[in-house]
This record gives sequence, structure tokens and C-alpha cells, in this order.
Amino acid sequence: MPGFLWRSVLILQASAAIYTAAQFSPAKTYEEWWAYKEAVQGSFVPGPAFWGLVNSAWNLCTIGKRQSPININTSQIIFDPFLPPLRLSMTGTTVSGTMHNTGRHVSFRLDKEQPVNISGGPLLYNHRLEEVMLHFGSENSIGSEHLMNKETSAGEVQLIHYNQDLYSNVTEASRNPNGLAVISLFLNVADNSNSFLNRMLNRETITRISFRNEATYIQDLSIEDLYPDTFGFLTYQGSMTIPPCYETVTWIVIDRPLNITSMQMHSLRLLSQNQPSQIFQSMSDNFRPVQPLFHRGLRGNLDFRKPGRKCKGANYKLHIDRPTSSKNAN
Ligand SMILES: *[C@@H]1O[C@H](CO)[C@@H](O)[C@H](O)[C@H]1NC(C)=O
Ligand SMILES: *[C@@H]1O[C@H](CO)[C@@H](O)[C@H](O)[C@H]1NC(C)=O
Ligand SMILES: *[C@@H]1O[C@H](CO)[C@@H](O)[C@H](O)[C@H]1NC(C)=O
Ligand SMILES: *[C@@H]1O[C@H](CO)[C@@H](O)[C@H](O)[C@H]1NC(C)=O
Repeated sequence: MPGFLWRSVLILQASAAIYTAAQFSPAKTYEEWWAYKEAVQGSFVPGPAFWGLVNSAWNLCTIGKRQSPININTSQIIFDPFLPPLRLSMTGTTVSGTMHNTGRHVSFRLDKEQPVNISGGPLLYNHRLEEVMLHFGSENSIGSEHLMNKETSAGEVQLIHYNQDLYSNVTEASRNPNGLAVISLFLNVADNSNSFLNRMLNRETITRISFRNEATYIQDLSIEDLYPDTFGFLTYQGSMTIPPCYETVTWIVIDRPLNITSMQMHSLRLLSQNQPSQIFQSMSDNFRPVQPLFHRGLRGNLDFRKPGRKCKGANYKLHIDRPTSSKNAN
């Protein structure tokens, strides 16, 4: 079988390359061997086109038919008047957590003590917020993973939640049906900035994670600040946008962007993919290219073809429940 042979050759080449990579940096594991660009520090590291070929556990990245991100063609969104509003449920008003330079993303992971759940919209289960992840470009014209009518944005903020009704942690959820729910917000470069991003990306905070593996603790962030006052959304079934590309994600893309200043974009671009002892390589352009839609449907809570047609008015606001401190609820 030519197909089989071709695959064996690839696997052999990959194994040889892994062997070489392992010799240069013994700490790196096979699970870590991927990148957004093919060359990192002069040696080959598999970029998006190779993710599914170098590791059989990642083959969905290549052969999957429900991959993300996608180009969202607004004329193909089906208006679903029965989509309920998104509902946030949490014990307090703010959260604390650790912001990390993972070498690939800026990642904010919440402390375990202050759970934030999302439900409603297309979601049939309670999903718990695990991580806020930032993708961004080297220029303002690129950076988002999803495209809107072929248009890119300066970046994309992804709120990664896992199904806490069915699974005990994000790892288990990510490989199982209805495991993950990701809320996506586009970044818009403006002269003002979203207050959550303002806290995360001020000079004092962001410079503490200049290099790979650096982290800093941030307190009193308000997750609700990431949601616009009013917004519509569209939803589709897709995948994780990083290996292993499991097809377990319900994507919810918000139709209003978050503002970010050019100063904040600049400080993001100054983050290095590498450790201080290694050469500087900007983390920017950490997005996966769009994947084919195939026969998937896009659903929205407003009619993008006839802007007047919407669900009931209250659906365009985030609903917030605070079960254990109802006196603070609004
Ligand atoms: C979040 O969802 C889980 C699972 O349904 C539930 O046990 C927990 O009480 C919820 N937490 C909050 C703050 O709503
Ligand atoms: C969006 O879809 C419509 C209808 O299928 C098509 O005519 C149009 O060219 C598409 N636009 C983009 C930007 O892909
Ligand atoms: C996640 O949950 C699974 C199943 O309960 C368990 O086997 C695994 O050790 C957990 N992983 C982490 C990182 O906690
Ligand atoms: C974002 O910035 C634009 C342009 O400055 C402004 O019109 C808009 O109101 C801002 N959005 C928010 C949510 O503040």
C-alpha cells in the first residue's frame, strides 16, 4: 500500500528527528514537540501542517473533519430563536490565579477555590472555567484563530471550560464527548482597553512573564469584565486548536470584540517563546490556520443576515448567579 509506506516513512523520519531533538534538549518530551512555526532556534519543530503526522496520538489534527479554528461566514449562520442566554455562575465576584508564559501562549489558570461555571447558550452541562488563553499577532492585521468573513483580528482571547457534570478534570474532559466549551473573543486595537486585559497586561505584570516558564500570581480579576455589556454569539462543534486536536469542543464566538491598546499589544509581542539563556523569539503569531468546515452547521442567537431578527432581548446579556453569596447578586 503506497499510503501505508508513505506513512511509515514519515514516522521513521519523525522518530529520527525526535531522537535528534531529544539529544539537544533532553527535558523536552514528545508531547511538547510542536510549534506554530516550523523552525525554532534553527532546528525543525513540527508546525501546524505536521502536527497530525509526527505523533499518531495527534492524527485528528490531519484527518479530523471537525477541526478548529474556522472561517465564520456570517451568511451561513442559522438563526436559532431558541438559544438561551449564557449563564455565569460563581461563588464570589472576583477570581485569582496564575498567569504563565508557556512558551506558546499567555495562559491564566484559575485557583481551584473560586470556581466559575458557564452554562446556557448551546451548552447542556455546567462547564467550569479552567484557563484563559491569549493568541495574538506580530501585526494588528493578524493574530486571531477564527476569521469572520475571511477577516482576521489582532488576537483572540479563549476562555477554556470543561464539563464538570461528566468529568473530573480538564484532561479527562478534553478527550471525551461534550468535554470542553470555549468562549472566544476577538481583540480590537483601540485607544482604550478592556478592564480585565488592563489588569493582566499592565507593564508591571506582563514583564514578570517575559520568558518561557515564568509565572506571576494575579488577584481580584473579574471574569464578567471579559464579556461585553450586550452581545450576540454563534456556536459550532469543533476541536482544540492545539495538539492533540480532540474534537470535543463546543465553540461559542462572541460578536463584539474586546478593546486592547497598541501599548498592550506591544508588550505581548515582547514576550519570548524561549528561556532567558536562549535567543529571543517573539511568541506572537501563535495561531493555527483555519480548517475546512465540511458539513458542519453554524448557529447564532441573532440573524446575521437580517440584523433585526433576534432572540428575546434578555438573551444578549450575560446572566449571573452567585449561589453562596446571594446578597451580592445583581
Ligand atoms: C459548577 O458546576 C458543578 C457541576 O455541575 C457544580 O457541582 C458546582 O456547584 C457549580 N459551581 C458553581 C459555583 O455554580
Ligand atoms: C459565504 O457564503 C456564501 C454562501 O455560501 C458565499 O456566496 C460567499 O462567497 C461566502 N463568503 C466568504 C467570505 O467566504
Ligand atoms: C483526571 O481524572 C482522571 C479520571 O478521574 C484521572 O485518572 C487523572 O489522574 C486526572 N488527571 C489529573 C491531571 O488530575
Ligand atoms: C472600543 O473602542 C472603540 C473605539 O475607540 C469604542 O468606540 C468602543 O466603545 C470601545 N468598546 C468598549 C466596550 O469600550
